[in-house]
Amino acid sequence: YIGFHLNHKEQQMAFDDDQSGIQKQIVIKFSHVVAENTPKGLAAQKFADLVEQKSDHRVKVEVFPNGSLYTDKEELDALKSGKVQMIAPATSKLGGVSSKWQVLDLPFAFPTESAINEGLNGDIGKSLLASLEQQNIKGLGFWVNGLKQITNKDHAIIKPNDFKDEKFRIMSSVVLKKQFELLDGQSKPIDFNETYRNLESGNVTGEENTISNIYSKKYYRVQDYMTISNHGFLGYAILMNEDYWHSLPLKVRVLIQNSINETVQWNQDHYRTMNKEQLRLIKKESNIQIHELTPYEKQKWIEKLNPMYKQYEPIAGRKLISDIRHLQR
Ligand code: LMR
Repeated sequence: YIGFHLNHKEQQMAFDDDQSGIQKQIVIKFSHVVAENTPKGLAAQKFADLVEQKSDHRVKVEVFPNGSLYTDKEELDALKSGKVQMIAPATSKLGGVSSKWQVLDLPFAFPTESAINEGLNGDIGKSLLASLEQQNIKGLGFWVNGLKQITNKDHAIIKPNDFKDEKFRIMSSVVLKKQFELLDGQSKPIDFNETYRNLESGNVTGEENTISNIYSKKYYRVQDYMTISNHGFLGYAILMNEDYWHSLPLKVRVLIQNSINETVQWNQDHYRTMNKEQLRLIKKESNIQIHELTPYEKQKWIEKLNPMYKQYEPIAGRKLISDIRHLQR
């Protein structure tokens, strides 16, 4: 896994060294915006449990879900300034830290789930996490939520033309804004936990998200149509304040990275089934009309959105674009 590695001898030293022992309980605050019963919510809780167990309760991770400590607008600054020690924002929200991150928002960036793993665990993931270092942020790894779908009101969205006259809530990302522009739709960046209200009031008519977020935040109750399009990626960078990271005893850093690595594996094993199960629940609990794009229909979306790759090349650089393109072959 990406992140922090020690060779065998260093690990041995860390655990043998009494000086690195933990004198008093260390408390790490971990803020995130989603519900608990989601790929990120559960991974964060699992991480907290593992750390507590491995450290024999000497390191405690306090998890604050649903934006109860910081909203998605606030959490990055709170991390950089050390008000909170850990967050795991959607990669889409890191474009302001380094524009490289925007590459993961390109339409159909990851055509399959195995492409997601290859991308995040390979050169793409490494270069993205490394780009955070100048900003006092330590990247520990990635969790995945899955691929995004479209929900909206009034009419089914099947062809690229169907986006016209609809206004979509987006995460704050220039690439996502551009995506809806190309589709002749409008968009508005809105905080994740404000989205339900904005959909309900009609301030926006649609949004894009994973099944897991659509289900756990109940968007399906205030939307009439859902298109299974798998057109975009939603995943998370697991981040810690870097000064804080370096202030931790080596033993604790090892324990944290090992626990993260376990949750990364757990997340990979579970995010698909969670989204599948919650799609079943959406169908059971509502009358939302669901259309799954046929390969032909999807191809029309791909063609319409394709120019974004060329437009984005000067920002991301040739290498990153060609790495992403490589995964799509
Ligand atoms: C969103 O704002 O839609 C997502 O980033 C929320 C999340 O963290 O999954």
